[in-house]
Amino acid sequence: MRVGILTGGGDCPGLNAVIRAVARSLIQLDGTEVIGIEQGFLGLIERRVRPLDLDSVADIMATGGTILGTHNKANPFGYFGAGGADVSEATCAYVRELGLDAIVVIGGDGSMAIAHQLAAKGIPVVGCPKTIDNDLAHTDRSFGFDTAVAIVTEALDRLQTTGRSHGRVMILETMGRYAGWIALHAGLAGGADIILIPELPYRLEEVARVCREREAREHYTLIAIAEGARPEGGQLTVKERIEDSPEPIRLGGVGNVLRTQLEPLVGCEVRTTILGHVQRGGPPTPFDRVLATQYGHAAAQLVAQGNFNRVVVLRGTQIESVPLADVAGRTRNVPLDHPLLRTAWDTGISTGTAPR
Ligand code: F6P
Repeated sequence: MRVGILTGGGDCPGLNAVIRAVARSLIQLDGTEVIGIEQGFLGLIERRVRPLDLDSVADIMATGGTILGTHNKANPFGYFGAGGADVSEATCAYVRELGLDAIVVIGGDGSMAIAHQLAAKGIPVVGCPKTIDNDLAHTDRSFGFDTAVAIVTEALDRLQTTGRSHGRVMILETMGRYAGWIALHAGLAGGADIILIPELPYRLEEVARVCREREAREHYTLIAIAEGARPEGGQLTVKERIEDSPEPIRLGGVGNVLRTQLEPLVGCEVRTTILGHVQRGGPPTPFDRVLATQYGHAAAQLVAQGNFNRVVVLRGTQIESVPLADVAGRTRNVPLDHPLLRTAWDTGISTGTAPR
């Protein structure tokens, strides 16, 4: 067999661990060749691939980013380099020319949507769920999430000591797009007093009330706010629009908005830290390395079995797979009956709303 592998969309810790596991698993199968596709779908459009052997995937487990490179605008069904033209026929022709029996696509909801469209054109695909946001449908964990949570947790630990020393309200803005998974998990782990997530629009007055109460008792407050959070009746905070991107809206800055709104309502100084891409860089945690390796191995198994157009997922502690169609372009928010929300409320953490 000849199998291609690509990493699409934004990068994420653990991508190299998946590439390594897919390549090592497949190379062990008699005669299987693994072809690395450079910069996600752009490599298929611009014809940039290279063979991957055991040496080329050695010593990459702990390295952040992706050895193949990635691209978050490249889409064969609307290629920015051709003014948004559909170049999918040429892309599929190139895949056949390369003699690829399948492509392992490591990506988020956008990459899965493209993979699904390629599958409809007869290209056999296996998907692997990647994103620090943990917002992919049908999987309890995407790799990269645990690392992001660890980074945010450490940041909260550090903000807590400086916030306490100065008697300030410290706001930490996390990534996560339209889902609050990173802020919720890291907020709990990092001892945040207030956790604000997109799924629960916050009441400014309630946030201010908790801060004032803490000011009197504890003298400082730690707030974790997801970039997609917004006040009740308010708007999302959009950092920029990247028009030629399949997903043009980039969120960011709500932490600064909250600071401006909050400062006149509390009696102390308020400071905001926006972690940004720090959450996506660097080595993956051991959990993400193991999960990424399991995903890569499971994806290779699906390829070897000829079980295509599926995405490997984690359900509880089991690695399973679901149809690509069920995951493509779909996201998963924090359900309002999620046990972690109950844990937060019952341990006195505010979500800027009335407790349910
Ligand atoms: O989806 C991963 C993510 O890091 C989001 O959390 C964030 O909103 C977005 O990507 C940032 O995208 P970019 O790297 O294009 O700025």
